[in-house]
Amino acid sequence: MRLDYLTIFPDYFAPLELSLPGKAAAGGLVEFHVHDLRKWTHDRHRTVDDTPYGGGAGMVMKPEPFGEAFDALGIGADATVVFTTPSGEPFDQRLAAELSTRSRLVFACGRYEGIDQRVIEHARERAEVREISLGDYVLNGGEVAALAVTEAVVRLLPGFMGNAESLVEESHADGLLEYPVYTKPPSWRGHDVPDVLRSGDHARVAAWRHDHAVRRTVERRPDLLAPSVLDDGSPIVRAVPADAGELLTLQRACWVAEALENDSLDIPALHETLDDVRAWMTEWDTWVVRRADRLVGAVRGRLEGNAWDIGRIMVAPDLQGQGLGRVLLEHIQAVAPEQATSYLLFTGAASVRNHRMYKKAGFRMRPDLPAPAGAVMLTKGRR
Ligand code: ADE
Repeated sequence: MRLDYLTIFPDYFAPLELSLPGKAAAGGLVEFHVHDLRKWTHDRHRTVDDTPYGGGAGMVMKPEPFGEAFDALGIGADATVVFTTPSGEPFDQRLAAELSTRSRLVFACGRYEGIDQRVIEHARERAEVREISLGDYVLNGGEVAALAVTEAVVRLLPGFMGNAESLVEESHADGLLEYPVYTKPPSWRGHDVPDVLRSGDHARVAAWRHDHAVRRTVERRPDLLAPSVLDDGSPIVRAVPADAGELLTLQRACWVAEALENDSLDIPALHETLDDVRAWMTEWDTWVVRRADRLVGAVRGRLEGNAWDIGRIMVAPDLQGQGLGRVLLEHIQAVAPEQATSYLLFTGAASVRNHRMYKKAGFRMRPDLPAPAGAVMLTKGRR
């Protein structure tokens, strides 16, 4: 990936030579090119700003130096030009992941009251443009924001991090904040490492971590949970380990109906134990919905290659036929991670009501794909 920076303060970008980004540059994974915007001025004072049309305080960055810089740097369709500005779209992990797929990023760092709007319009005529904000506060200029975006993007490049697993597990990778972490010693100044983390029981460790990630997110960033809301206002929320018992009960109730409809007891969901449910909850992104404190619906998803595998759509028998299943299906599609390019699910070959719902939702039968005995696969492309 090639990264260019247009700035009147090139010294701001000295940190690019440090630490991992510096190593990535030395190893040829990225190329950093920092340009002094004043290079493309022609007056004695090397002027980059002027007074705003319409009046008002402050100065506006002139269009000409940017235009000449774009020409000199050959900004074209292979580039994404990033304007760092407090009025841009919020920067987040999803956007970082998206930008990490580009071959060239060009950061145009504004100062003063901003950059003449025509620079952005012009850039849009020759390249992809993103206007990005670091957050709801005002910095003195876009340089710090460009550095922050760079660090978040570059560390996602394949081959950048020694330990790819830590990318998967860290905060925001799954839409949750990261769980608390501990290292040695086991006891320090009267504070102990939770016993479960020293138990060696991987399933319990995973359940503890998921539970604490959810708790932290609920407390600190409820906005991240972005629950879909049913007509009556009940939110669809991520399952927590304590939901396992009720999930088991709901699952049994739902798959008894499946067994009757398909005339077979040979359905795994019907035979699972509480421990089975607990175990899959650690592997699947599971969502539940409650009404009057009763767990009445659930759905789960997980990534299989580039397909978002959807399953265990359950609705309490007394609430079936009211559209709850459809909302759960919409929800689980909406929370699929960025990498998912298609959705995949299976259902009983004779589960006619399910077939109808999936068909309405845009899924197509895939008799060509291998399915569990007595079931059919359905898929849908992600738009
Ligand atoms: N420039 C000034 N403030 C900024 C912010 N919050 N995000 C991105 N660029 C900026």
